[in-house]
Amino acid sequence: GVPLRDLAADHGIRIGAAANPYLLEKNREYRSLLGEQYGSLTAENVMKWDTVQPERGVYDFSHADALVDFAEKNGQKMRGHTLLWHNQNPEWLSDGDFGPDELRSIMHDHIRTVVGGHFKGRMYAWDVINEPFRDNGGELRRNLWLRTLGEGYIADALRTAHAADPDARLYINDFSIEGRNAKSDALYALAESLLEQGVPLHGIGFQSHLSVGDVPGDMVENMRRFTDLGLEVTITELDISIDMPAREAELRAQADDYRTVVRNCLKVSRCTGVTVWGVGDADSWIPSWFPGQGAALPFDQDYSPKLAFGALQEELSKA
Ligand code: G3I
Repeated sequence: GVPLRDLAADHGIRIGAAANPYLLEKNREYRSLLGEQYGSLTAENVMKWDTVQPERGVYDFSHADALVDFAEKNGQKMRGHTLLWHNQNPEWLSDGDFGPDELRSIMHDHIRTVVGGHFKGRMYAWDVINEPFRDNGGELRRNLWLRTLGEGYIADALRTAHAADPDARLYINDFSIEGRNAKSDALYALAESLLEQGVPLHGIGFQSHLSVGDVPGDMVENMRRFTDLGLEVTITELDISIDMPAREAELRAQADDYRTVVRNCLKVSRCTGVTVWGVGDADSWIPSWFPGQGAALPFDQDYSPKLAFGALQEELSKA
């Protein structure tokens, strides 16, 4: 069949996948699917702070570069993931107990080095702010940035990233915001206020870690209120998990859900595309984080296409 990336391009969107340089090196099926099917890559882990700046002032881009080189060879775009988050920070940072001036300068140095110094012009978008809200509800997460710098850390990071690479689209990325709820309402209010202050925010990433049967019915309407603010939106980390063992009925329902999410993106004129969070079920983060759940991706344990993959192909083949 025609690769997803080409079908998607006909609609002016990109279908992407989260990728891992270790799997690229060791697994041939993984490597060929990643290169053939997807038009955009996101580093699943290797652009996070613990990999990129494992010790203060010591940067290591070797893992990330392996991925970027692969993407460039295959004519794929890269989304940068991620700059400020509460997870996967090196100990020197998370336990550093820095005061505001020092933490601010650490943040500026990281963003300038990563976005400007190293990757400038090679990332079409950056998840500058990852998961700034609490798991549920509308309060900002009391992560290390908020605790020390206050909520101004968000605008500061976006401005710093924009100065470092003016061509990159800058995102806030979060989960459980796909439908209208307290969390997406709070994000909406934040986005509106940042834009009013002239802060360079360009897009919202809807991670979309979903369970089968749970695609919110108001997802299109919810994404549209953000694009009505002048923002673009992207489905950034799609996976649809199933209670194991996955039976035929669930795999069918999952395929329908994949189809619905892609269609939802196509219905929103400034939805730039859909990234799935991994290639095959063997490399998904779901089973280790949610024991008893899995089978969340369009390819199975052996990288054979599932019904979900067929549904994506079919949906994207429609005019
Ligand atoms: O690198 C170490 C390795 O040295 C060690 O031996 C091994 C033993 O546990 O762990 C390895 O680190 C793991 C890392 O992935 C790299 O494989 C961590 O334990 C594991 O917790 C980590 O999980 C990642 C998770 O983010 C961490 O929060 C997942 O792979 C990754 O898919 C997930 O991605 C996040 C997005 O960035 C943000 N949105 C949610 C999404 C899912 O949690």
